Amino acid sequence: MSKKFYITTPIYYVNARPHIGHAYTTIACDTVARRHRMLGDDTWFLTGTDEHGQKIERAAQAAGKTPQQFADEVSETFRTSWERLGLSYDDFIRTTSDRHKEGVQALWRKIRDNGHIYKGTYTGQYCVFDELYVDAVGPGAPCPDCGRPTETVHEENYYFKLSAFEDKLIKLYTEQPDFIRPETRRNEVISFVRSGLRDLSVSRSTFSWGIPVPDDPKHVVYVWLDALANYITALGYGQKDQSKYEKYWPGIHMIGKEIVRFHCVYWPAFLMASGLPLPKGIVAHGWLLFEENKMSKSRGNIVRTETIVDVLGIDALRYFLLREIVFGQDGSFSFDALVQRYNADLANGLGNLASRTLTMINRYFRGEVPYPSQTGRTPADEAIASTAKRVIAEFDSLFDQYQFSRALELAWGLVAAVDKYIVENEPWSLGEKQDEGSRARLATVLYTSAEALRIVTALSHPIMPDATAKIWTQLGLGEIRKFDLSALQWGQLRLGTKLGEIQAVFPRADKSAVERMHKMEELKSENAAVTSAPPSTSPATQEAAVKPESSAGTKPGTAVPDGKISIDDFAKVELRVALVKTAERVKGADKLLRLEVDLGTEVRQLVAGIAEAYEPETLVGRKVVIVANLAPRKLRGLESNGMIVAASPEGGKPVLASFLEDVPIGTRLK
Ligand code: MSP
Repeated sequence: MSKKFYITTPIYYVNARPHIGHAYTTIACDTVARRHRMLGDDTWFLTGTDEHGQKIERAAQAAGKTPQQFADEVSETFRTSWERLGLSYDDFIRTTSDRHKEGVQALWRKIRDNGHIYKGTYTGQYCVFDELYVDAVGPGAPCPDCGRPTETVHEENYYFKLSAFEDKLIKLYTEQPDFIRPETRRNEVISFVRSGLRDLSVSRSTFSWGIPVPDDPKHVVYVWLDALANYITALGYGQKDQSKYEKYWPGIHMIGKEIVRFHCVYWPAFLMASGLPLPKGIVAHGWLLFEENKMSKSRGNIVRTETIVDVLGIDALRYFLLREIVFGQDGSFSFDALVQRYNADLANGLGNLASRTLTMINRYFRGEVPYPSQTGRTPADEAIASTAKRVIAEFDSLFDQYQFSRALELAWGLVAAVDKYIVENEPWSLGEKQDEGSRARLATVLYTSAEALRIVTALSHPIMPDATAKIWTQLGLGEIRKFDLSALQWGQLRLGTKLGEIQAVFPRADKSAVERMHKMEELKSENAAVTSAPPSTSPATQEAAVKPESSAGTKPGTAVPDGKISIDDFAKVELRVALVKTAERVKGADKLLRLEVDLGTEVRQLVAGIAEAYEPETLVGRKVVIVANLAPRKLRGLESNGMIVAASPEGGKPVLASFLEDVPIGTRLK
């Protein structure tokens, strides 16, 4: 009987569109799921969207939509994005679906009937962003978790007796040390639980966007109880057909480090309270940063996967994320690092190994895998075989411990060893000779290389499904997804196998690839500025943003001589005095500085092409003039919210506009 394997991603909030951070978790799960399928396990891979709660209700309001309309639209963008990335999920759960609601209500009843839910009142601070009651004092006090202002609430709620589960949880973490991975997260959770657990409010009555509490529909179920339950409701828990639940539960949850507490404390406690089996384990990864910075809307540095996929392909993205970032730790994403890794490991590494080996088999053996010589094997041949055997043995256990980067590093050690082996054995020189000894040696060298190529290809199929499928067909082995990975061994490549048609799998990327990706991101952010101007934008800027090509503002009938603009046109440009608070060079761009400027009412980020004229330190504390109502645009991945005004002498360096008299910050130039 085949083993069962169940893996889940977090379900993503629908208040943001999918980006590379969400893709990271989903790709990692997809890789694990694909490997289990290849090993012959009966695998189920779940992802979905988290659509209830006050945060979503407010985001919908701000967008002028009903929460359901809003959730439908954003949830669809996740599905579309996952389809484009070729992610192999088996089910996509939405928390607004009937099946989920039914399951959540069943779970609630079970916990309640077991005596773990009671009614109580709460007065205190609430953090809408985290959807948590927090220890903060007074209206607007900052949330101790995320620093955002909290809101004071007074509510009659249902409470879950979380405090009763302290000892049971500690026992769980102790008896099952790999319940929480990695170790650092496990230690944090243990000390959190040891510091004492308070009962948890599990209903809300101040808003209605949620699942009604059974038998008391004035309340809705707390969004985290609602969301966590997805892992079992998607399998049919609490519904008519529970067969999948019976078959696959319990499973493994993969999550980002910021939601460890919900998964490792609340979720097991809810399950203990309902008498259901606990998850097999929770694996938390770190944060993906963009060029060392946290990705966020306000910084304007959110990377979408489409750009990368369009330029380098899905496999390049998947390989990069799993190879470059040590799973569990924070890691940095940049287009430069992506292209470097792609060229080094894929174009020059696996791709080159495939094309040179297969081309030589074509040329010297009419496209059939040659017979290695049984006699006259050299230590170099044996060394490749034994490295390959070690790789097969160790790859598995590294993967099982979610150490993707180490597993890939190990396999690419074999790629490097074979490259060196080819260089040292010079098959191209052997190919020029006709004597029997040289032919036999050539056959051995090419067989050994092709077999090593087959092994790396099989092992990396879950990580790079498309490229490896192509190499597999080029090796003449048919469909890779039919290959049983659990049987992988050195020496299985059958002699005389007829190769398929050879094609380059990873064409080398030149420097322009990085530029192209930056450009595409910039264009996207400009388009975003055009199509989704925030509701707070003044009517004038909105019009300018929506119709950039028109001579916006010119009243019909107002004659304006050629090449001149009307006073109305000029009035549209909002020039203001701003004070430079910080200035720094933009990595990898000689001409750009990143500035933070104070406009009196707000501080914003600008990216200005003045690095050749000004040292960043000399600008701090200086007053400058900026165009304050320019639609945001992205430069080198950074959002620029406005433009600095400078004289630009022909062939010379820019000179910043300044004043002889002192002018208050924020003053408008007219
Ligand atoms: N809806 C909750 C989860 C409920 S699960 C029962 C939620 N959603 S979220 O949209 O904020 O997604 C958070 C998850 O997305 C993270 O835990 C992580 O898996 C992924 N990531 C989002 N941004 C990320 C990075 N910048 N880096 C790495 N992962 C990130 O929390």
